[in-house]
Amino acid sequence: MGNTGDGGCCRLALTDEDKEGRDLVVNWMKDLGLTVEIDAIGNIFGTWRVGAGAPVMTGSHIDTVRTGGIYDGNLGVIAGLEVIETLQSAGVEPKRPITVAVFTDEEGARFAPDMLGSLVYVGGLGLEAALDTKAIDGPRLGDELERIGYAGALPCPGATPHAFIEYHIEQGPVLEVENQQIGVVTGVQGISWQEIVIKGQSNHAGTTPMSMRHDPAYAASMIGVFLRELARSMGGNQVCTVGRIELVPNLINVVPKSATLTVDIRNTDEQLLQHAESTFQDFIERLASTEGVEITSRRLARFEPVVFDDGVLDVIERESTALGATSMRLPSGAGHDAQMLARVCPTGMIFTQSHKGLSHNPAEHTDADLLELGANVLLATMLAMANDEHLN
Ligand code: GLV
Ligand code: MN
Ligand code: MN
Repeated sequence: MGNTGDGGCCRLALTDEDKEGRDLVVNWMKDLGLTVEIDAIGNIFGTWRVGAGAPVMTGSHIDTVRTGGIYDGNLGVIAGLEVIETLQSAGVEPKRPITVAVFTDEEGARFAPDMLGSLVYVGGLGLEAALDTKAIDGPRLGDELERIGYAGALPCPGATPHAFIEYHIEQGPVLEVENQQIGVVTGVQGISWQEIVIKGQSNHAGTTPMSMRHDPAYAASMIGVFLRELARSMGGNQVCTVGRIELVPNLINVVPKSATLTVDIRNTDEQLLQHAESTFQDFIERLASTEGVEITSRRLARFEPVVFDDGVLDVIERESTALGATSMRLPSGAGHDAQMLARVCPTGMIFTQSHKGLSHNPAEHTDADLLELGANVLLATMLAMANDEHLN
């Protein structure tokens, strides 16, 4: 189900591998006696129907990027099931139901935007628009959902949980460098995704004088260099990435006729993110005119920075300390389903370390004792939230 043979996982959203992974998780949910429901965007919910009122929800995603590791997303789903299994076998019944969610297409690597399933769940994107999203390999999201049998009956937007707590690997180096076991995640930085298309003049690589070129490959390279320099000059939390470049016709002796590339710009501060976006926009306008190419951009995702609920973070911190874990507060550099749930209910996230800060990479790794410690913090936090033992 996506094993790449090098320690990694390729389970792009709504592929056959995703279907197999979903089927496995649904079976695990049924083994625990959970009520399994699927909504119209393919999000899966396994609910332990104990107690009363709105459930405390946890969960994450099981889709991965093409060169993903095995922990990103999967950890939060498996740990959620483990929380329920542990409570059940200890004979502990919380006062509220507990739900484990598997959100559709968190990665956005096949269908943009990222966090698509949780965004639709909270009403941030209409169902029809989401179903009409086209994959990078062509198919329509709604058709893929039908094909793998996960176009469910529950309506979107969905019911508001009492609270949402997501457990995830950090995907960055901070906890390991700071020698802290648990991250109490204060929020998620803002994300701006664009697809840039550059059209120029295709011509012979040997005969076309440099002064007469209108070269999309050159313009794409200049964008990469500009973004690195922009992030360096802004400093702080500013990050910029060109993750995909496609040249047409992509041949050694042809000045390309077009380049398509993706630009990912993130910052924890909305004003600074807007500054980076507008500086980049000015740059591509100048570049188009100096190189004599046409540059168009299409927005693929835009999410403002999110701040998590202080009350939930206090509970995570308190329970970490009670378990003897060292912890620190930090923001998340990666996007997460929790940032969407934060729009509708008190939300927090728990991080565990990522060895060497590696993620979206088959070498992603976290030691088993740390994985377990974080799962125990999740359990204690969920139990406190489900029993309404909030701090404030
Ligand atoms: C999604 O997980 C992202 O941060 O790119
Ligand atoms: Mn993830
Ligand atoms: Mn990811």
